[in-house]
Amino acid sequence: MNNVIEVKDLIITYGDNNAVLWKTNGSIPEKSLTAIVGPNGAGKSTLVKAIIGAIKPHKGEIKINNKSIKDISNKHQLISYVPQRDSLDDNFPICCLDVVLMGRYGKLGWIKRPSKSDKDAAMNALEKFGMHMLANKQIGELSGGQKQRVLLARSFLQDSEIIILDEPFGGIDIKTEKIILDLLKELRDKGKTVLVITHDLDSLKDHFDYVWLLNIHTVAFGKPDEVLTKENLIHCYGGSVHLLQHEDN
Ligand SMILES: Nc1ncnc2c1ncn2[C@@H]1O[C@H](COP(=O)(O)OP(=O)(O)OP(=O)(O)O)[C@@H](O)[C@H]1O
Ligand SMILES: [Mg+2]
Repeated sequence: MNNVIEVKDLIITYGDNNAVLWKTNGSIPEKSLTAIVGPNGAGKSTLVKAIIGAIKPHKGEIKINNKSIKDISNKHQLISYVPQRDSLDDNFPICCLDVVLMGRYGKLGWIKRPSKSDKDAAMNALEKFGMHMLANKQIGELSGGQKQRVLLARSFLQDSEIIILDEPFGGIDIKTEKIILDLLKELRDKGKTVLVITHDLDSLKDHFDYVWLLNIHTVAFGKPDEVLTKENLIHCYGGSVHLLQHEDN
């Protein structure tokens, strides 16, 4: 099995502060659906920002398809990324359909007008996330969860090999979370490698192939059953683990 993403001995600090990631290691197999979990401040968002090349590590290495992220020029084609908190400017006069079309063009302000097939593909992506009825609505007029769904539709349309979502279920209702999880599995089955940061530990065993348990360093990485042991959870979450236990574990 090939590893699409390799993280080796990663050390990241912000300014002069203590390291927020310390000798962190992990390997993500191709065509898999992996959850990154850990407490607030564990370094999850920092880790994925380093994986997409947005943060430069202090030490260590990140490779995508055996190539250092530093040397990859077509990152946008290779990786689609939805950040934790929405980065869309509410005041920017753009409708949902145009936001999704940005998935095709990589940036706003394309010179070429989108073709009918581009628009159809964008509408299909919106429909997958139940947002086609609001295609022409301004992005600033949407609720937080609706905005999140539009961003997910955009990453869906981007059709990149790797999809990274930072807390896609924040502000999303349970029904929509299930729809999104099914879509992510569909993408995995089509050969994509999907990485999802989530706090929903209940969803891990049923929906994810691998779990990356993180708290500054990698506490455990592997299949959900292997990783989600009481020892590992206590190691990762400390005293709050009693909140996370199930009757069967
Ligand atoms: N831009 C920044 N400048 C300084 N410190 C930062 C910055 N971004 C994050 N940090 C710090 O780095 C640590 C890890 O933050 P990060 O956002 O990666 O955590 P997280 O695991 O994603 O947490 P959460 O579950 O709350 O989203 C935290 O202590 C945070 O305060
Ligand atoms: Mg985060």
